[in-house]
Amino acid sequence: MPDDAELLAGFEATIAADQRIEPRDWMPEAYRKSLVRQIAQHAHSEIIGMQPEGNWLLRAPSLRRKAILLAKVQDEAGHGMYLYAAAETLGVDREELTEKLISSKQKYSSIFNYPTLSWADIGVIGWLVDGAAICNQVPLCRCSYGPYARAMIRVCKEESFHQRQGFELLLALVGGTDAQREMVQEATNRWWWPSLMMFGPGDADSPNTQQSMAWGIKRHTNDELRQRFVDMTVPQAAALGVTLPDPQLRWNDERGVHDFGEPDWDEFAAVISGSGPANAQRLAHRRRAHEDGAWVREAAQAYADKQAARAAKGAVA
Ligand SMILES: [Fe+2]
Ligand SMILES: [Fe+2]
Repeated sequence: MPDDAELLAGFEATIAADQRIEPRDWMPEAYRKSLVRQIAQHAHSEIIGMQPEGNWLLRAPSLRRKAILLAKVQDEAGHGMYLYAAAETLGVDREELTEKLISSKQKYSSIFNYPTLSWADIGVIGWLVDGAAICNQVPLCRCSYGPYARAMIRVCKEESFHQRQGFELLLALVGGTDAQREMVQEATNRWWWPSLMMFGPGDADSPNTQQSMAWGIKRHTNDELRQRFVDMTVPQAAALGVTLPDPQLRWNDERGVHDFGEPDWDEFAAVISGSGPANAQRLAHRRRAHEDGAWVREAAQAYADKQAARAAKGAVA
């Protein structure tokens, strides 16, 4: 049997060679815990993220838009399922993670605590929120933990559809009336800063980043990803003819990237700690859905017990 030092050396060699750690492999407890926290938070975000858009399913302006939005919201449910399954390979179970979500012991992305007030919000969420999710998630396809990396490959393909459906929806609106163009601008004004906050605090205030990068879980810092998102989004905003609500936003020739302002980090802290505009509503809804689904879980359990009992009887006879 290899001793702890040998196991750790093996783990570190795998990371250094940029190979994947698989569920059967030995891993440091802190690595496992950190992944459980990150993957659970990610899974919860996918599930809670269905709510702001679900809010518009019955009010989509056409059958085509409704079908697209429905497909998108269902994708997010699927993302949640892959991610809970990835977390389960680390020895936790989905029931336990769901309990932690509904009792506020685990978090989800701050962005889903903002309300969707107009139809343009649906387009802006696809464009900015899914766009930011893509920036965050594409590097996770190379995450050192195999099941998480593989889940991300499929998730990212679907996210790119989400981003394009949002952009296409907005293109239709900006080609419409003045009122529709104003609606797009107003939605952009509300979602821009919360989208920048999706990358998390600045690098100086992100204590876990260094360890996460050393473990090959994260590949870029929060500020690097935020910069990439801004640079990607500016030409898209120009194509739509909307203004991003940041007076400090401008191209910096020397750095070869855009300069931009600081999000309101006090607002971010408030939303993360539970007092954002829709935190209470999101959690109450999730709790209710969990309670309403109790009979399905009970029926599935009763069926599984019956099958197991039948199999055991068969084995005895
Ligand atoms: Fe998603
Ligand atoms: Fe998405």
